[in-house]
Amino acid sequence: MSKRTIVSLPGDGIGRTVLEETIRVLDAAEFEADYVEGDIGWDFWRTEGNPLPQRTIDLLEKHKIALFGAITSKPKDEAFEELAPELQEKGLVYSSPIVGLRQHFNLDICLRPCRTYKGNPLNFIRRGPGGVIEEPEVDVAIFRQNTEGLYGGVEWSDPPEIVHEALMTHPKFVKNFGKTPKEELSVSTRIFTKKSTERILRAAFEHAKKYGYKSVTVCEKPNVIRETSGMMYKMAQQMQKADFPEIELWNTNIDAQMMWLTKNPENYGVIVAGNMFGDIVSDGFAGLIGGLGFACSAQYNPDSGIAVFEPTHGSAPKYADYETSIVNPIAMIESSCMMLDFIDENEIAKKIRKAVADVIAEGKVRTYDMQKMPGRADVIEKGAASTAEMADAIIAKL
Ligand code: NAI
Ligand code: MG
Repeated sequence: MSKRTIVSLPGDGIGRTVLEETIRVLDAAEFEADYVEGDIGWDFWRTEGNPLPQRTIDLLEKHKIALFGAITSKPKDEAFEELAPELQEKGLVYSSPIVGLRQHFNLDICLRPCRTYKGNPLNFIRRGPGGVIEEPEVDVAIFRQNTEGLYGGVEWSDPPEIVHEALMTHPKFVKNFGKTPKEELSVSTRIFTKKSTERILRAAFEHAKKYGYKSVTVCEKPNVIRETSGMMYKMAQQMQKADFPEIELWNTNIDAQMMWLTKNPENYGVIVAGNMFGDIVSDGFAGLIGGLGFACSAQYNPDSGIAVFEPTHGSAPKYADYETSIVNPIAMIESSCMMLDFIDENEIAKKIRKAVADVIAEGKVRTYDMQKMPGRADVIEKGAASTAEMADAIIAKL
């Protein structure tokens, strides 16, 4: 079989370290690939005025599959000040390159799995009957609509007259906001389309079917947000009836779900939600299985097959310049396993996940987060494993 080409997008800060270590693990697991590095992130904003150069978009268009570390974003004023002097006259505005990738390739499906590793000291525990300590085994796959909803960017402060007039056609607007001066209004819209809602629901149901989950839970708020959440739940009911009768459809409200999260997380399988609620519920579940050092994700477009795999953490700039990197590479390594599953290299994915599980279960090699240490350069002296040592331990188990 010919070697695959994977686009590596290290980005900024610890994104670079965790991606490098992950490629070491992939090589050791005998995944045969060539990696081409794509330019993305803060340096390219500073020097070229564009954190996502066209050449990077072209690379992904060509090779389709990317591993992404993390990028640094900074507030508007700082972004401007750090821009090369000759670019400061050009009226450039910084926007996040990962959001840019999402939009350019319509990576509308975001999958964030959260699985408990036995022996992880960060696992959620609770008290059961008689005061016994229980450690529920979490295995959920959260499907988050990645391009619409409250993060769709359609918003105004002091909206244009025509928008205000349109709002004034709604009786509830007239009743609750009709007397508020226009310039005192900020409006963020929550737009769902049938097409994207259908795609995220189908992705969720198909995942449940493929991996044997018994239920799909729509986690929204259809009793209050009747139009958007309501549409999603109704479409889920129709889809379940027509195409997935063997899978149970559950319906939870986002607020209640965040409470049940710690009560009975082991009961949930696949969860599907719009953009913002998907973001919230996936962070909630990630907290039960170890947090940012463990939270992996995929973003993809089922039609084009273009997919980007990344840890959900950011570039953690405060750790970026440590002589020995201390951050946990597992979230990035797990993200690469999602990539392997996506391109049907399931055996290699299984092998790597088993090696990670073995290292965690053995408990000898733990990064600072797993030891609940405050993140500082001296954690290595205090017995925490470095990023590279964690990768070495995983490689040794392969
Ligand atoms: P962050 O995720 O970079 O770091 C928050 C804290 O989480 C860190 O200080 C550290 O204590 C912990 N942490 C993160 N990754 C870890 C790992 N692998 N192992 C152990 N501990 C880890 O979020 P923060 O500090 O809010 O943002 C830093 C920069 O990253 C910002 O510029 C932000 O815009 C960007 N960012 C980028 C994302 C992306 O590339 N997708 C996502 C989130 C933030
Ligand atoms: Mg988030």
